[in-house]
Amino acid sequence: MPRRYHPALVTLHWLLALFLIGALIAGRFILTPQDNADPAKLISFTLHMGLGLTILALMLVRLGVRLGTAHPPRVQTGKALPDRVAPLTHWALYAVAIAMSVSGIVMSRQTGLPDAVFGDGPMPADFDDVPARAVHGVLSMLLMALIALHVAAALWHQFIRRDGLMARMWFGPR
Ligand code: HEM
Ligand code: HEM
Repeated sequence: MPRRYHPALVTLHWLLALFLIGALIAGRFILTPQDNADPAKLISFTLHMGLGLTILALMLVRLGVRLGTAHPPRVQTGKALPDRVAPLTHWALYAVAIAMSVSGIVMSRQTGLPDAVFGDGPMPADFDDVPARAVHGVLSMLLMALIALHVAAALWHQFIRRDGLMARMWFGPR
C-alpha cells in the first residue's frame, strides 16, 4: 500500500479546498446579501455559478481518481470514535459538496436564472419560495461544519498526535 495519496488526488484535494471554502464564504457573505435588483449581482451570480459548476466537475473527476487509485491504509489512532468517524466524514464531504452543486443547479433552473444571467430573461425577484434554495442553505451550513471538523482533526493529528498525517496528502515518493 502506498504511503501517500495519488498526486492527482493531492492536487484536486488542495485545489478543491480553496474553491469550496471560497464558494462558501463568497456565497454567504457576498452573494446572498446582495439584492437581485442590484446590477452588480449579475457578476456575483456569474462567478458563483461558474465556480459551482467547476467544483461539481472536479469533484466527479476526484471521485473517479479516489476510486481508481491505490491509497494509504486507514489511520489507526487506537481510539474507536475518530477511527470510525474519519472515513464517514470523508465520504460525507464528497456527498455534500456534490449535493451543494446539484441543489444550486436545480434552484437556478427552477427560477430561470441561467436565462437572466447569460441571456435577456427576467431576473427572479428572490428565491424565497424555492425549496432547493432552502436545501442549498442548509447544505452549506452542513458543509462548513464538516470542513471545520475535518480541519480540526487534521490539526489534531499534525500538532497533538504528531503522526505526520499531513504528508499523506502531499507530494513525494509513494
Ligand atoms: C484547508 C484545510 C484542509 C486540511 C488541512 C486538510 C487535510 C487533509 C489531510 C491531512 C488528509 C489526509 C487524511 C488521511 O490520510 O486519512 C485529507 C483527506 C481528505 N480531505 Fe482534506 N483537508 C482540508 C480541506 C478539505 C476540504 C475543504 C475538503 C472538502 C471536500 C476535504 C476533503 C477531504 C477528503 C474527502 C479526504 C480523503 C481523501 C480523498 O478522498 O480525497 N479536505 N485532508
Ligand atoms: C459546491 C458548490 C457550491 C457552494 C459551496 C455554494 C455555496 C453557496 C452559499 C454558501 C450560498 C449562501 C447560502 C445562504 O446564505 O443561505 C449560496 C447561495 C446561492 N447559490 Fe451556491 N454554492 C455552490 C454551487 C452553486 C451552483 C452550481 C449554483 C447554480 C448553478 C448556485 C447558485 C446559488 C444561488 C442562486 C444562491 C442564492 C443567492 C441568493 O440567495 O441571493 N450555487 N451558495
